[in-house]
Amino acid sequence: MTTAVCPGSFDPLTLGHVDVIRRARSMFDEVVVGVARNSTKSSFLPVEQRVALARDVFSDVDGVRVAAVDGLLADFVRTVGAVAVVKGLRGGADFDAELPMALMNRHLSGVETVFVVGDQALAHIASSLVKDVARYGGPIDDLVPGPVAHAVRAALRGGDAG
Ligand code: PNS
Repeated sequence: MTTAVCPGSFDPLTLGHVDVIRRARSMFDEVVVGVARNSTKSSFLPVEQRVALARDVFSDVDGVRVAAVDGLLADFVRTVGAVAVVKGLRGGADFDAELPMALMNRHLSGVETVFVVGDQALAHIASSLVKDVARYGGPIDDLVPGPVAHAVRAALRGGDAG
């Protein structure tokens, strides 16, 4: 059985992420969605909630499971026995950002990174833009899964984002 890790902050999980994770699942027997605690930026949704939302969204998808990444991704990949990291590309800027991480992860653990081109119709979606649109009261229902839209709006209201 081949396992791949789809890592990310997923802050929040978008329809673009869901598309890439489903594409990864079509190539590997099992996909572990690795939700990273973000050490460089302060997160919008707490990691526990990002994990819970991803579990909810993929609850009906066979062969996809979700776990928090607490330390280095390279260590997480080894722990789950994955043969590859899968990341989605929307364009050249994504590749420029991803290449050093792919090289570092291979340096640290020997793991290969596989780049997947996501659905062109979703290429405008970024977690940062979703938060910005939502902050100003714009519609996000066609940008993120339903439970995520609910959680983002609740977080912005300062209430229970459950
Ligand atoms: O959603 P993002 O911001 O593109 O995800 C980046 C992520 C979470 C994949 C990256 O920051 C990461 O792997 N973090 C875990 C800590 C780590 O291993 N850092 C070194 C990466 S080379």
